[in-house]
Amino acid sequence: MAKISRQGTNDFCPQTLFLYGTYKEDGTPDFGLFCWFSYCWDKTLGAMICIGGEKMTKDRIKAGQVFSANLVTEKLLSMADYLGCKPGYDEDKMDFDAEIGKGAVLDVPILTASPVNFELEVAQSIPLEDGEVFLCRIKNVLYDEMLADESSPVGERLRTIAPVSTTCETYFSYTGEVLGAWGDPGKGFTKNRRRQMQA
Ligand SMILES: Cc1cc2nc3c(=O)[nH]c(=O)nc-3n(C[C@H](O)[C@H](O)[C@H](O)COP(=O)(O)O)c2cc1C
Repeated sequence: MAKISRQGTNDFCPQTLFLYGTYKEDGTPDFGLFCWFSYCWDKTLGAMICIGGEKMTKDRIKAGQVFSANLVTEKLLSMADYLGCKPGYDEDKMDFDAEIGKGAVLDVPILTASPVNFELEVAQSIPLEDGEVFLCRIKNVLYDEMLADESSPVGERLRTIAPVSTTCETYFSYTGEVLGAWGDPGKGFTKNRRRQMQA
């Protein structure tokens, strides 16, 4: 097979998506959508993330050194896409109804509807020219109870939660179908939410 060269891209390398939760200065939660998330090892499993540019999530991680990372599933995609397209600096970003709890170990907001919630504490940060890398200790992971049910095959449990993946600025279902381009699934998210609340 012939090869072609391309610069600075991760197209065709699917990534898992997470919603990072922090508390703003006024104590209310903010969530942003992120895919530059992976793992590292330093005696125990850690997490490593990168945030580019200026973002509310970055400001709040730097201020508090803690945050949550909530796995994005197909059920959460429309909210997640909205949270990835609207800056936390917009005061009305979080004006919608969602069940938001607290970490069991750290003072971080978690999305109850996400089946896996990491509670992360920054161990080290590396400022870059326009981004910042954070190496984090995993202080706790909250799982939906059904994920710990060993009597159910692991493939079945994963299919049930259906994590979304992304590459080529496109979202994919757990079984590989296209779910939309970045910016599509979240269109009208807050409007629909408000309509549901009024109904
Ligand atoms: C699919 C998707 C993935 C994203 N992944 C990242 C990422 O890994 N790093 C990053 O800096 N921004 C990423 N973003 C952009 C942030 O989600 C976006 O800037 C968001 O508005 C940040 O929210 P905040 O201001 O409340 O922190 C992503 C956006 C989308 C739509």
